[in-house]
Amino acid sequence: DPAPMIDGFARRITYLRLSVTDRCDLRCSYCMPERMQFLPRAEVLTLEELYDLARAFMARGVRRIRLTGGEPLVRRDMIDLVRALGRHVGEELDEVTLTTNGTQLAQHAAALAEAGVRRINVSLDTLDREVFSRLSRRDALPQVLEGIAAARDAGLAVKINTVALKGINEHEIPALMRWAHGQGFDHSLIETMPLGEIDESRFEHFLPLTAVRESLEREFTLVPSQHRTGGPARYFDVAETGGRLGLISPLTENFCAGCNRMRVTATGQLYPCLGGGERVDLRAALRSEDPAGQLARGLDAALRIKPEKHDFRIDAEHQSPALPRHMSMTGG
Ligand code: GTP
Ligand code: 5AD
Ligand code: SF4
Repeated sequence: DPAPMIDGFARRITYLRLSVTDRCDLRCSYCMPERMQFLPRAEVLTLEELYDLARAFMARGVRRIRLTGGEPLVRRDMIDLVRALGRHVGEELDEVTLTTNGTQLAQHAAALAEAGVRRINVSLDTLDREVFSRLSRRDALPQVLEGIAAARDAGLAVKINTVALKGINEHEIPALMRWAHGQGFDHSLIETMPLGEIDESRFEHFLPLTAVRESLEREFTLVPSQHRTGGPARYFDVAETGGRLGLISPLTENFCAGCNRMRVTATGQLYPCLGGGERVDLRAALRSEDPAGQLARGLDAALRIKPEKHDFRIDAEHQSPALPRHMSMTGG
């Protein structure tokens, strides 16, 4: 068997985030500028290439694959990839999942469940239609709520992701959590990260989750939970709601020591870390004379260059310059 993927800090890579498109039908202001320049479609990997890539990672011990974007469901043939990967669940893979903004979920929830998806993460920053329209620059809240309901009805476990934003959804966080837990969903809060230029200051809206936690603890009992997904979230059981709350705090509480993941962009660029560092061009490997050999060498190179941790910072003196790529490009 080929060697498992272990990086220079003895971390085992068992999880792949695979972006299927950089495009999105929303324009969340913390994520991208209003006039976002997307990649020419010709640059993006074909479905076969994405599948071959996934298999190369599976052969090296990756057991969980999360499809991301941009918005993965805006790519038309994406469900075919889910089906192809779904056939490996229970064998090489423990799960195939996706992270979506929910706008197209109503149409796809049943097919996703049939293809072998068991749980999905849906981004939802507000339950207020006006706030949603301003924040995402699209009036799509009703569609998203419909999508979430369809996912639940299709039997998918749902986790709601909320980026915590000062002056935007700060005061709605308890209500969002109650709503999510009331529906039987896990709920995660996320600190905004400096990825790509946007039309506003990230510092202005940065809300440390340390502060959110303190304020939630005045109203709720947060009991640290043993629950782990191998992801960045620290989980708490909330006594009053019976639900689970995840805190993803890259800026205030580094979690890189437990990192189990790598990510590949829709153009086949392998980023060993979301927070910067070098990348490896797997598209070139895929399109070379010797794809298997080149891919193997690419994965080994990525293990060697995976940094110990990201160095995101947002504070008054140091708004660490945004990385030269957006979350929609790297897939989170
Ligand atoms: P699980 O598989 O359920 O653990 O999912 P997840 O929380 O890792 O994935 P999701 O796509 O829902 O991402 C939630 C947030 O976590 C997004 O803002 C991601 O960008 C962020 N995130 C995921 N992985 C990493 C990581 O390795 N480093 C950092 N800094 N953020 C990450
Ligand atoms: N910082 C933190 N989270 C972000 N997301 C998008 N851009 C950023 C950013 N700059 C979130 C989305 C989605 C998840 C994949 O990442 O809202 O929930
Ligand atoms: Fe699209 Fe997600 Fe970025 Fe919003 S955060 S613009 S939904 S990729």
